[in-house]
Amino acid sequence: MCFLKHHVPGSRASIYIHPLLAVITFFSEKEKCINIILFTLSLSQIHPLTDQLRLVREQARIMAENRTGTSLFSPCKMGKFSLSHRVVLAPMTRCRALNGIPGDALAEYYAQRSTPGGLLITEGALISPTAPGFPHVPGIYSEAQVEAWKKVVDAVHAKGSVIFCQLWHVGRASHQVYQPGGVPPISSTNKPISNRWRTLMPDGTYGIYPAPRALKTSEILELVEHYSQAALNAIRAGFDGVEIHGAHGYLIDQFLKNGINDRVDEYGGSIENRCRFMMQVIQAVVSAVGAERVAFRMSPAIDHLDATDSDPLNLGLSVIERINKLQLQVGSKLTYLHVTQPRYTASGQKESRRTGSEDEEAQMIRTWRRAYQGTFMCSGGYTRELGIQAVTEGDADLISYGRLFISNPDLVLRLKLNAPLNKYIRKTFYTQDPVVGYTDYPFLSKANGVQVPLSRL
Ligand SMILES: Cc1cc2nc3c(=O)[nH]c(=O)nc-3n(C[C@H](O)[C@H](O)[C@H](O)COP(=O)(O)O)c2cc1C
Repeated sequence: MCFLKHHVPGSRASIYIHPLLAVITFFSEKEKCINIILFTLSLSQIHPLTDQLRLVREQARIMAENRTGTSLFSPCKMGKFSLSHRVVLAPMTRCRALNGIPGDALAEYYAQRSTPGGLLITEGALISPTAPGFPHVPGIYSEAQVEAWKKVVDAVHAKGSVIFCQLWHVGRASHQVYQPGGVPPISSTNKPISNRWRTLMPDGTYGIYPAPRALKTSEILELVEHYSQAALNAIRAGFDGVEIHGAHGYLIDQFLKNGINDRVDEYGGSIENRCRFMMQVIQAVVSAVGAERVAFRMSPAIDHLDATDSDPLNLGLSVIERINKLQLQVGSKLTYLHVTQPRYTASGQKESRRTGSEDEEAQMIRTWRRAYQGTFMCSGGYTRELGIQAVTEGDADLISYGRLFISNPDLVLRLKLNAPLNKYIRKTFYTQDPVVGYTDYPFLSKANGVQVPLSRL
């Protein structure tokens, strides 16, 4: 008899499928024996086989969930925070903070996406006047900005969510139009981002990235200071913590990756040197606001904005090793480590050239997950099914959802109910209208065919 064998990733379960039979085998830790479940498939169920596979996988997932007791919708202790579920709003630049000041539209947008015990991460907030590379991005360096963020934070807290502010400097991913005095943007290097990438200009058109100016060694500590001041400002604005943006080809990543960093001072060359700026920033921010209010985001395996590295696996491990060591030194863990999956896509194109097969990439993330001594968050291309699978199988503690959260303000409820999802409209991702494509995506209602329970999550 011919059976197709499928291994259930991350578990000790296997599924054997034959046109008339499906067999699941799995090892029971409790009973210390192999269990076998046999399904007979009726003739009408023979096609398509993939449906059968999905059914059997779902059975296997439920078994794994029962084993660990952890699911996307189960509570999570994240440092001093007690989250009631694991669906996180990913940080997303939306260009609605006119002239860098977050207004009522942002308060409405973030409040819509809040749930009791949920976690939201803001869009990248600029740490200094040299930090922007997109139009109308909020800052967190001036008093006016701090005051304005308070309204957003209050609106989110009123709905019971925890909110972290993402600290952002784009480095060379900018243009003179965004720089004070119209000077070139700063970076670890003088090399510009290649023509493969385009920068969003203030009028909505796309331009070429200009050549940046490599920071002098003596200027770098001032940048570190801007991060720690921004963190203090965020806490003053009422944020529960800050996420340092060390990913996606922006300033910190421009130091980390050997495809960009060509420095010959103590910030370039060896991994130790390339991690120096990142570690100085993390240490300064931890000293300013305490490790339990600090998170870090990295994407070693993503080549967004030409951020390539010859050995992403080791780069990720080196970052993690240093953070683990710092956590031991200060006697407290960072709130979480946030890692972006290489499969993340943008603009309808593959944003990342794969560093290997999907299995190799999944393995790399698992290696980092095992190495990191703390709460581990993953982002990038997660569907409901993939998020449930990752958490149930222990590959992540938290999943941050980006594009699906743009178009589904009540994403947590929809995922929980397995309700239909609104489609996102890409052309309004970075526009300035305070409502259209921002706060006008519909919530579930009877009108769209779904019975909404009275008690929201
Ligand atoms: C419109 C848009 C803006 C984004 N802005 C940021 C940002 O400011 N900071 C950041 O770390 N990631 C940013 N990202 C990446 C998201 O945080 C997330 O990792 C990505 O969308 C992949 O998740 P998804 O597949 O669930 O959308 C952005 C993504 C999108 C679509």
